[in-house]
Amino acid sequence: MRLTILGGGGFRVPLVYGALLADRGEGRVTGVTLHDLDAGRLSAIARVLAEQAADHPDAPTVTVTTDLDEALEGADFVFSAIRVGGLEGRAADERVALAEGVLGQETVGAGGIAYGLRTLPVVDHIARRVAALAPDAWFINFTNPAGLVTEAMSRHLGDRVIGICDSPVGLGRRVARALGAERPRDAWIDYVGLNHLGWLRGLHFDGRDQLPRLLADQELLGSFEEGKLFGPEWIQSLGAVPNEYLHYYYFNREAVTAYREARQTRGAFLCQQQAGFYDTLRDPAAPALRTWDNTRAEREATYMAENREAAGAGERDEESLTESGGYEKVALALMRAIARDERTTLILNVRNRTTLSALDEDAVIEVPCLVDGNGAHPVAVSPLPAHATGLVCAVKAVEREVLEAAASGSRATAVKAFALHPLVDSVEVARRLLDAYRRAHPGLAYLT
Ligand code: G6P
Ligand code: MN
Repeated sequence: MRLTILGGGGFRVPLVYGALLADRGEGRVTGVTLHDLDAGRLSAIARVLAEQAADHPDAPTVTVTTDLDEALEGADFVFSAIRVGGLEGRAADERVALAEGVLGQETVGAGGIAYGLRTLPVVDHIARRVAALAPDAWFINFTNPAGLVTEAMSRHLGDRVIGICDSPVGLGRRVARALGAERPRDAWIDYVGLNHLGWLRGLHFDGRDQLPRLLADQELLGSFEEGKLFGPEWIQSLGAVPNEYLHYYYFNREAVTAYREARQTRGAFLCQQQAGFYDTLRDPAAPALRTWDNTRAEREATYMAENREAAGAGERDEESLTESGGYEKVALALMRAIARDERTTLILNVRNRTTLSALDEDAVIEVPCLVDGNGAHPVAVSPLPAHATGLVCAVKAVEREVLEAAASGSRATAVKAFALHPLVDSVEVARRLLDAYRRAHPGLAYLT
């Protein structure tokens, strides 16, 4: 089994490789090809992987290349986690929006739209190359904004592209643990929405839905990450537990203020931190794995720090730290289920079919799926309440404008995308955002 990783010089690749090393099963991945545009980053990550493989005699082989076609040929699975424009781009996405007083975040609001606009032309090209060179490969997309990117790629690859995210699984596990589930992993999670815009409306174990017990108990509600972030009262009012990313919507003003007041935005912090990591690894004497692991721990500990501060939620607890970064586990579970035709259930980004009646069948949504050798099949979930349906439809409409702007290169359509977003409060702001993003990102010059 051959796995190709696009964005192979990326910081989280060792997590994926670590998961592969732990897989002893039949039909496991035996060869990994890392593709990246940046040869320096590739060799840094290859060094970390070599140290990880040290005590594993049968570790998957690792090859590196900067040639996309070479990377794709012969792949059984393609895993994509690229960052178009790099972390500098992410920092600019945040900065431009915050200067206008609206949310600047990697995947949410104006920042997410800018990121989408510069990512879509690149992933469109990748999808075409995959369709030409590896039409039987399964494509696992982690490239953000993951829902939008998966939908764009599905236009070329159909249901062979599947989007993943770690946040719904993490949410499910935290809630299951708060409720005292013996096997938090095995709880049935009733969750649906778009990527980074979903709600948990039920959590079943021991034969019944245990969520009502959580909703009735202030103390339990205050005991896990999302409970601290949103506060027990608001979760009780909603009657559902929102994905952590909904903090940017429900507490938008506080989040924007916290982000504006922060010494550095998340993107700017990571830009600096990651540059330090890749620099250190240029020294052949530097301990690659140890340096990587320390950097990773710091990155995890500071995840969503501004939101937690705005909410008075305090530090991340130990358990949530170990539970996070689970995306490599989702990716591996997905690959296994497909490769071995072993049925499992995972929350994934796939085409809607008839799951959410307010959306058309090709709209990519995030939903529990049965996965087997034939791919991912969404299952029925409880219908979303009206306010959630409204938000999902509004954000999907924005995504469709982003897709249209990327396809046509129309500036007016791009402005429309910004202006229609629930977190952008004026058409004038939308126009200024587009102009400022075009100045910040050479990759947006195609919008005229
Ligand atoms: C979670 C989300 C990802 C996102 C990441 C950001 O894992 O699911 O979609 O990219 O957080 O974390 P970072 O450390 O880059 O701020
Ligand atoms: Mn995600």
